[in-house]
Amino acid sequence: MKLELGGFAVALTLGTAVHAQCPDYTTYSQSPQGNASTGPLALPYMRPDPACRTFNSSAVEQVIADMKARLKDPDLARLFENTFPNTLDTTVRYFNSTENLAFIITGDITAQWLRDTGNQFAQYRPLLSKDKELATLVKAVINNEARYVSEYPYCGAFQPPPESGLAPSYNAYATDVTVQPPVNNQTVFECKYELDSLCAFIKLSRSYYQETNDSSIMNDQWFTAINQILTVIEEQSQASFDENWNWVSYYNWTGNAGALSPAVTNAGAGEPRGSNGLVGTHHRPSDDLSIFAFLTPANAMLSVELNYLAEILDDAGKMPNISQAAKNYSQTIEAAVWNHTLVDNIFAYETNGLGSRYVMDDANVPSLLSLPYLGFLNTSHPAYVATRQVILSRNNPYYAQGKNFRGVGGPHVDAWNPWPMSQISAIFGTDNDDEIVNSLYLIANNTAGLGLIHESMNIYDESQYTRQWFAWANSYFSEMLLDLAQRKPELIFTNGTSYTPGQ
Ligand SMILES: *[C@@H]1O[C@H](CO)[C@@H](O)[C@H](O)[C@H]1NC(C)=O
Ligand SMILES: *[C@@H]1O[C@H](CO)[C@@H](O)[C@H](O)[C@H]1NC(C)=O
Ligand SMILES: *[C@@H]1O[C@H](CO)[C@@H](O)[C@H](O)[C@H]1NC(C)=O
Ligand SMILES: *[C@@H]1O[C@H](CO)[C@@H](O)[C@H](O)[C@H]1NC(C)=O
Ligand SMILES: *[C@@H]1O[C@H](CO)[C@@H](O)[C@H](O)[C@H]1NC(C)=O
Ligand SMILES: *[C@@H]1O[C@H](CO)[C@@H](O)[C@H](O)[C@H]1NC(C)=O
Ligand SMILES: *[C@@H]1O[C@H](CO)[C@@H](O)[C@H](O)[C@H]1NC(C)=O
Ligand SMILES: *[C@@H]1O[C@H](CO)[C@@H](O)[C@H](O)[C@H]1NC(C)=O
Ligand SMILES: *[C@@H]1O[C@H](CO)[C@@H](O)[C@H](O)[C@H]1NC(C)=O
Ligand SMILES: *[C@@H]1O[C@H](CO)[C@@H](O)[C@H](O)[C@H]1NC(C)=O
Ligand SMILES: *[C@@H]1O[C@H](CO)[C@@H](O)[C@H](O)[C@H]1NC(C)=O
Ligand SMILES: *[C@@H]1O[C@H](CO)[C@@H](O)[C@H](O)[C@H]1NC(C)=O
Repeated sequence: MKLELGGFAVALTLGTAVHAQCPDYTTYSQSPQGNASTGPLALPYMRPDPACRTFNSSAVEQVIADMKARLKDPDLARLFENTFPNTLDTTVRYFNSTENLAFIITGDITAQWLRDTGNQFAQYRPLLSKDKELATLVKAVINNEARYVSEYPYCGAFQPPPESGLAPSYNAYATDVTVQPPVNNQTVFECKYELDSLCAFIKLSRSYYQETNDSSIMNDQWFTAINQILTVIEEQSQASFDENWNWVSYYNWTGNAGALSPAVTNAGAGEPRGSNGLVGTHHRPSDDLSIFAFLTPANAMLSVELNYLAEILDDAGKMPNISQAAKNYSQTIEAAVWNHTLVDNIFAYETNGLGSRYVMDDANVPSLLSLPYLGFLNTSHPAYVATRQVILSRNNPYYAQGKNFRGVGGPHVDAWNPWPMSQISAIFGTDNDDEIVNSLYLIANNTAGLGLIHESMNIYDESQYTRQWFAWANSYFSEMLLDLAQRKPELIFTNGTSYTPGQ
């Protein structure tokens, strides 16, 4: 998710810090802090003081030491050192293992987004079988999210659990909005229906299980959440109109200016759509309003994740009926992506099941550029190669290129502020060494001298960026470097030996 340019109307809870004397990282991350790295970029050390970190892991520290010993460019080493621990250093606002609850903020916004959280922990995956306490934290995140999803499957951003004693955050963007089914703002921070939020919950759950074999996450509440997800999928597979042109609406969102999204057409239900096996969404992973309901990358991610869901249920010997339904939807959705979103090998970003398509891409993951990262296809697939070429060109309305930076942005910020995240997705999506190195240094060169990954970056002016504290972007960058450590060690290491965390 992301915050509007300069839009700090979202209340930031005081006392981000563990101790009273700890600086608020919102402020801390706005200026260079510790020593500079010894490379040409001279990037500052930006980790908070150890006493102010929100979770400690010796396994994480070991990975940092291992990577620093291997990376040949001290600037990349500094970026890894700052970004890899950022989620644990700064965003664990509450954790109680007895209650099996954890509350994780996005960074500068004091709310837990299903999508952000899943991504914020992705780079720690290889450590879950090595660090018991870290695994317990992730399990508590999953359990907290199972509670959210079981109650509000159409929502994507949430308030702290009451057990934490933390006050809910006031969200100025949600006050003028009415959502159906209705939500309680003591639990829900914002209720935009974004299909990929549900995928993120499944991905975090199955990744945890795949690493630990711990089926205790699959409690009654978790199954209620999974059943809710299947219900949403069924509801959102329906066409907008029945045979008599009555609206078939399961969710609607009405609001006015200040709601961080334009008013939604058709009494909050959005643009009409047909039915062809794809699953509708209402807002995008950027939290912007969808033009057409069938978001290709979210459906691609859903087909991948439902298949994994079936796999872990089968492996754990639980709920064969849910496994069967998940497999079924996965196949239907995958076939529909191939049958209904592709023309001349180019994927549309959005379609409506009635013949309309929108060829573009947005920086937020899931995106078309990230299809290989999502596991939907591999980098050499002709449809990906052709689509990637369109995405990284003027034919994508949200691609931009200036003397300073280039990449994919989106309407969330604006067309000439692409996101570093898009260059990370681009790296995951190619085996070409020159392209990888180029994207890597587009990112490294453009941190405004702060050594952290920001949301968007101006194509002409490297001092202009949005969101100084965006944990997901930091996590995604470090996950990408760990991927290169195995896939392309010769590009980044002093020698060509690959590296796997925790081994
Ligand atoms: C940082 O710089 C100070 C001097 O400015 C030095 O005393 C200290 O050892 C340096 N720390 C690291 C980790 O390099
Ligand atoms: C992390 O370790 C430091 C000591 O290095 C300690 O001061 C701090 O309280 C620890 N943080 C947590 C959340 O346990
Ligand atoms: C965790 O929650 C349990 C049950 O509510 C409580 O007894 C315990 O004091 C909590 N632990 C911490 C460290 O707050
Ligand atoms: C919840 O909504 C009520 C009514 O609009 C408002 O007064 C209150 O400030 C909101 N609380 C939060 C935490 O947003
Ligand atoms: C809005 O959603 C509610 C169900 O949650 C439904 O009763 C109502 O008819 C919907 N309105 C429209 C215009 O779709
Ligand atoms: C999980 O189970 C698989 C297959 O039984 C096994 O290969 C793997 O080592 C187990 N992982 C852990 C962390 O126990
Ligand atoms: C699966 O079966 C359980 C009972 O064993 C039932 O509660 C649940 O609703 C079923 N789910 C689906 C998706 O069929
Ligand atoms: C599989 O999906 C199709 C349509 O999407 C449906 O008709 C069928 O009943 C489903 N089968 C199972 C076992 O869920
Ligand atoms: C997709 O196309 C294949 C043939 O290429 C067909 O068998 C299948 O039924 C189609 N699926 C959908 C959902 O239209
Ligand atoms: C790409 O994926 C297909 C399966 O979808 C697989 O058969 C093929 O080997 C993969 N190619 C590469 C280069 O990994
Ligand atoms: C990064 O900056 C260096 C100069 O510091 C420059 O040589 C290099 O071409 C830049 N790389 C990219 C991809 O912009
Ligand atoms: C490459 O570096 C790693 C880590 O520093 C080291 O363990 C390994 O022996 C080195 N390999 C060669 C061939 O130098």
